[in-house]
Amino acid sequence: MPLTTTHTRLETLDQVADWRRAGQRIALVPTMGNLHRGHFSLVERARELADRVVATVFVNPTQFGPNEDFSSYPRTLEADTAGLAAAGCDLLYAPGMAQMYPFGEARCWVEVPALSDTLCGAFRPGHFRGVATVVARLFLHTQPDVAVFGEKDFQQLMVIRHMARDLGFPIEIVGMPTVREANGLAMSSRNQYLTPEQRERAGLIYRLLREAEAAVLRGEAIEPKLAKGLGALVDAGFKPEYFEARDAESLGPVSSGDIVLLVAARLGKARLIDNWLVQRE
Ligand code: PAF
Repeated sequence: MPLTTTHTRLETLDQVADWRRAGQRIALVPTMGNLHRGHFSLVERARELADRVVATVFVNPTQFGPNEDFSSYPRTLEADTAGLAAAGCDLLYAPGMAQMYPFGEARCWVEVPALSDTLCGAFRPGHFRGVATVVARLFLHTQPDVAVFGEKDFQQLMVIRHMARDLGFPIEIVGMPTVREANGLAMSSRNQYLTPEQRERAGLIYRLLREAEAAVLRGEAIEPKLAKGLGALVDAGFKPEYFEARDAESLGPVSSGDIVLLVAARLGKARLIDNWLVQRE
C-alpha cells in the first residue's frame, strides 16, 4: 500500500478510524524527522507489532531550550517521506504548529516531575515537559495501540512510559535497542553536526560505556571509573555534562537492580547522549 501523508489531526483520526473499524491494530513511531537507520529500525519493529504503521514528523519547539538548535534542526521531509514509504510505513502525519498547539505553546502541559529534573533534564530545563506534552498530543491525534521509541533516549523513554501509564493511555510502549555506527557511536540526527574527524572521535563514548560496564560486572567501585571516563572525554576535546550510573528502573541511585550507565557530552556543535544497560545476574 502506498504511503499516505496527512497534515491535520482530523484527517489522521479519520484514516485511523477506518483501520480500527476493519479490526486493524495500529503502531506509532513518533519522530522529529531527518530519519536514519535508527528510526527505520523502529518502523520495522512497528510493522511486526501491528497491521498499520503511522509515523509522525514534527520538530517540537517546546522541547528545545531558548539557546538550542530548534531553528537549525535538520528538516528533510521529502527524504523522510521516501524513506518511510520504502520502509513500509502506511501513514505519515506531518502536522504544523496550528495542529499541535492550536491554543499556543504554553497553555497546557504534561509533566513527569519525578524523572524530568535529573540527568538531561538538569541541563535542558523544560525539555521533558515538552516531550511528554507533544507525545501525549501525538497519542491523541493518532490513537495507536502500540508506540515504538528508541532506547538511545533512555530517560525520554522512561518519561513516556510513566506518562502513558499514569494518564491511562491504552497504549503499549515498546523500546528498541540503539542502532550504532561501526565505531559504536549511537545514531542520531544530531551526528550530522559533527565533522568526519569528530564522528570518528565520538566512538569514545561507546568505549567508555563498555569499559564502565566491565568494571561493574567485575564488582569494582563504579564512581572512580566514571570520574576517569569524564577525564578521558575532556582530554579528547569533549565538554561532558554527565557520566553516571543509575538504577535502571527509577533513575535514582544505584541499588540492587539493573544499572544504567548514562552519558551526555558536547563535541563541536553536537550534544551527544548515550547509555548502556548493565544486567547483573
Ligand atoms: O525522540 C524524538 O525524536 C522526540 O523527542 C519525540 C519523541 C518525537 C518527541 O518530539
